[in-house]
Amino acid sequence: MHAVPAGDSASSVAVPAGDSASSVAVPAHRSAETSVPIHAPIAARWSPRAFDSTAEVSDHDLRALLEAARWAATWGRRQPVRFLVGRRADDVFVTLSGLLKRGNQYANAAGALILLCAHRGADENTARYSGVDAGAAMANLSIEAVSRGLIVHPMAGFDARGATEAFDLPDDLRPLIVIAVGTLGDYAEVAPEIADRDRQPRERLPLDEIVLNWRERPGT
Ligand SMILES: Cc1cc2nc3c(=O)[nH]c(=O)nc-3n(C[C@H](O)[C@H](O)[C@H](O)COP(=O)(O)O)c2cc1C
Repeated sequence: MHAVPAGDSASSVAVPAGDSASSVAVPAHRSAETSVPIHAPIAARWSPRAFDSTAEVSDHDLRALLEAARWAATWGRRQPVRFLVGRRADDVFVTLSGLLKRGNQYANAAGALILLCAHRGADENTARYSGVDAGAAMANLSIEAVSRGLIVHPMAGFDARGATEAFDLPDDLRPLIVIAVGTLGDYAEVAPEIADRDRQPRERLPLDEIVLNWRERPGT
């Protein structure tokens, strides 16, 4: 397995992980262990729960994240994905933060909370693929964030109906996920249960379990 060496990663991306030199306490081995080297920000992405409550996300970075999401692939060029952006302490942030489930309260320390919604779509195909569009947008946003030295944590644990009501969203716009964006915080300062959870090994099924025909291609 290939763990992204801190030196390699640091040369192309400011890796927000315990594997890189850092002045804050961070759980070790957060970079993905991959069977071959992959694009550094993808390997470096993980979902931390410790945000630096004093760090801001700049307008420029926030715009870049949304641009990255805007340019994700979209079925039939329908572009069903919509965003609501809250910056720490503004009205949108405070409302989103109040809608998070109890286990996601760590995200109150994030610099920004982004609600990602997708139109259900007037026809069957748009409805079917809007979730795919949303996932692609979230992935683009996440990788752009990591490449800028930021951290992101997606959360389905929020009151979606409450979001529709609070932001007066149209019925066909489905709130799907809240994405916390910010700067990695110090694990020496977070609650022990959060630190324990984020110390768990990062694991994925092996390729030969998720690629259904992989066994037909030995040696690839
Ligand atoms: C659709 C979706 C919903 C998620 N919801 C939550 C959530 O409500 N709270 C949370 O702490 N993490 C949430 N996560 C993050 C996952 O727990 C995390 O991605 C998973 O544990 C794998 O860890 P990694 O992202 O560090 O690889 C969610 C991830 C996805 C893709």
